[in-house]
Amino acid sequence: MLALVNTPNSATPVELRELPEPTPGANEALIEVRAFSLNRGELRLMATRPEGWRPGQDISGVVLRAAADGSGPKPGAPVVGLTDNAGWAQRATVPVHRMAVLPDNVGFEQAAALPVAGLTALRTLRHGAPLLGKRVLVTGAAGGVGHMAVQIAARSGARVTAVVGSPERGRHVRGAETIVDGIDKAEGRFALILEAAGGASLTAAISRIEAKGTIVIFGNSSGEPTSINFRDFAEHPNARIQSFSYFTSEPEELFAPDLALLASLIAEGSLKPALVESSWRDLATIGPQLRDRRIAGKAVFRVEQNSMVR
Ligand SMILES: NC(=O)c1ccc[n+]([C@@H]2O[C@H](COP(=O)([O-])OP(=O)(O)OC[C@H]3O[C@@H](n4cnc5c(N)ncnc54)[C@H](OP(=O)(O)O)[C@@H]3O)[C@@H](O)[C@H]2O)c1
Repeated sequence: MLALVNTPNSATPVELRELPEPTPGANEALIEVRAFSLNRGELRLMATRPEGWRPGQDISGVVLRAAADGSGPKPGAPVVGLTDNAGWAQRATVPVHRMAVLPDNVGFEQAAALPVAGLTALRTLRHGAPLLGKRVLVTGAAGGVGHMAVQIAARSGARVTAVVGSPERGRHVRGAETIVDGIDKAEGRFALILEAAGGASLTAAISRIEAKGTIVIFGNSSGEPTSINFRDFAEHPNARIQSFSYFTSEPEELFAPDLALLASLIAEGSLKPALVESSWRDLATIGPQLRDRRIAGKAVFRVEQNSMVR
């Protein structure tokens, strides 16, 4: 089969190579991969992992062979799954507790947007639950996580202010009550703030949190540090800063139901991932665009099953 392999020392960051078929473990299904998506965190991993490492966490496709232990979806089922790595391939293995069957009206490209970014959006928002009527601020709202967080928060009854880098980026945001280009323009206080830019953005977030509110920090896209002083909280008593990692935030067995929940939100029309779709041969071109903030929403790649190494 063909797979994308890390080539950090070459002209392109990944290369399509002929590799052996994967061997599923007893609790893993074999998936014919139809689409996958790229995350900002994976760009960082690709730069630091060695030559030959196999990237790829977010995949969708069709079950070719059910797990040998009899659990999980049957052959032919369309699924979305979260893998540790090695997902950018024509075939991949996924533990059954990290996959969900797709409703009929959810496409492979939409589904591929869900695992890392969708789970992060869903689970960071849970830190503010119940959200009905609450003011929620989302930074990076044009990004992969941010644009889905805005929609899920709105679906949950929150009044959402979305922070984007420019008015043009705001065109891709759905569900927000207010869109501002820069956190400094966000007015009032918020019960929940999702913050992944770091640096000055986190400083500004602290000045906008309600008393007893929660700032969930889940990234540092700017690479900048933030200095924090207890006195910053004088007008925001008992507010807290909650760190977040999507992978360990909830028990392993919740991956499947959370992926199913996200897919059901797409099916009912309340979650519409914004997609920039390409062939998996174009990953080397799209990666720099994501890094440079020129992709709105999720970069999704189609895996051609009849591909050959050129
Ligand atoms: N902790 C976890 O479990 C977890 C899970 C997933 C993602 N993350 C992290 O969360 C962040 C968002 O992930 P993502 O997949 O949504 O990334 P993304 O699609 O690249 O979006 C990042 C957004 O952040 C905004 N941003 C603001 N300042 C930035 C800066 N200095 N550099 C780059 N972007 C900046 C950009 O918005 P504008 O261009 O409109 O300004 C961009 O839309 C990343 O840092 C990622 O590593 C963490």
